[in-house]
Amino acid sequence: MTGSESNKAPVAEVQNLSVNEAKTSQKQNVTPWDVEGAVVDGKPQPINYNDLIEKFGTRRIDAELLERFEKLTGQRPHKLLRRGVIFSHRDFEKILDRYEQKKPFYLYTGRGPSSGNMHIGHMLPLTFCKWLQDVFDVPLVIQLTDDEKFLFKPKLTLDQVYEYSAKAVRELAALGFKPEKTFIFSNMDYMGGAFYRNILAVSRSITFNTAKATFGFDMSSPIGRIHFPSIQIAPALCSSFPQIFGNRKDIPCLIPCAIDQDPYFRLARDVMQPLKHKKPALLHSKFLPALQGSTTKMSASLDSTAIYMNDTPAQIKNKINRYAFSGGQTSLEEHRKYGGDPDVDVAYQYLTYFLDDDEEIVALAEGYRKGEISTGEMKARCIKVLQEFIGEVQERSKTVSDQLLKDLRDPDYPRKFATIEKK
Ligand code: TYM
Ligand code: TRP
Repeated sequence: MTGSESNKAPVAEVQNLSVNEAKTSQKQNVTPWDVEGAVVDGKPQPINYNDLIEKFGTRRIDAELLERFEKLTGQRPHKLLRRGVIFSHRDFEKILDRYEQKKPFYLYTGRGPSSGNMHIGHMLPLTFCKWLQDVFDVPLVIQLTDDEKFLFKPKLTLDQVYEYSAKAVRELAALGFKPEKTFIFSNMDYMGGAFYRNILAVSRSITFNTAKATFGFDMSSPIGRIHFPSIQIAPALCSSFPQIFGNRKDIPCLIPCAIDQDPYFRLARDVMQPLKHKKPALLHSKFLPALQGSTTKMSASLDSTAIYMNDTPAQIKNKINRYAFSGGQTSLEEHRKYGGDPDVDVAYQYLTYFLDDDEEIVALAEGYRKGEISTGEMKARCIKVLQEFIGEVQERSKTVSDQLLKDLRDPDYPRKFATIEKK
């Protein structure tokens, strides 16, 4: 492998240790399947994102990059960019170069439908992606990895994962993705043709050694899992979508995802040159923390950590009030006296992801630190914002027609970008 970025990948040595079995000290572990902060002297630590930038070899998004984005697009950076939630990238400046030179590129993201429901963490890369699509006016492909979930979750059946991926299309349609610009595919459906050819080419250029070092597979891993990375990498080759890109091979993609997905694309970048395609660029998001706090990510597989997009207003209220880790003091009296810590307060954290108003965010943090805003008040604000956000998406999902779902999944739907001309 040439100029391998994947050598920087951490081996997922503790992948099979649950938090309870873990020793009193443990290194941070972030893979596409597991996210755990370090444990120091028995105390779980928040995810250290600076470490991830260093280990994975990515670049921090800085003010200069955002200024250039704003100058070129005329758009104020999205709140997740302004607030450092989307915090790291690979080659984003090259995408901006192309935008400036009016050269084509596309967006690629995905979703692994492990249950019938998305949680609010999944909304981060997706709502951000919708916004990027509007700003750049470029095609978007969304991969639903029903095959991945089947391979990695021994309890799920083929029928279940396929049903979940169909449900995911409805949820995505509710976020406003349009078939003129967006192609959403289940791997189980789209397998074959140009896509499968690229999967073959990718799978021949990755050795077991590399896959093992990147993902932590071992001799007892089912062989489908070892092959799976080729399938998540192939959509980063534009020639997997001849209906959109004709026979071009020189159109790169920009992949918005949370940083746990980076190992796939680090590998992807290594194989692009031999396959004569352009390296994908990436924008990485931090994780929306679990209700219990920022030592782990919200996960659809753990009910008590998550707020789901189909939760009722009462469930949202209940979960935040009961489970959301508080950075406040143990009594209101002490809180007024010593103030709270918004940086570890889950309700405040969620507000920084979902509340639009920058001034209110600053005021909430300051008020909390001074003890003027109580934990109860912070939670109440968070509950209201989440109820509104989730309620709106639920309302919109009711208006999604079967025809729209069909069009989004139709490879041959006449897409606006179907004739990207050779420059
Ligand atoms: P999945 O379904 O686990 O997650 C979908 C996207 O949501 C991100 N994500 C989160 N972001 C913030 N906070 C969280 N708590 C949180 N949990 C999940 C994930 O990083 C991801 O961006 N294998 C992938 C599917 C996939 C994909 C892709 C994702 C296929 N191709 C290309 C991104 C880009 C998966 O199972 O995602
Ligand atoms: N972490 C969970 C597990 O190990 C769920 C999981 C399996 C998963 N495969 C995945 C999550 C792939 C995201 C992507 O069982």
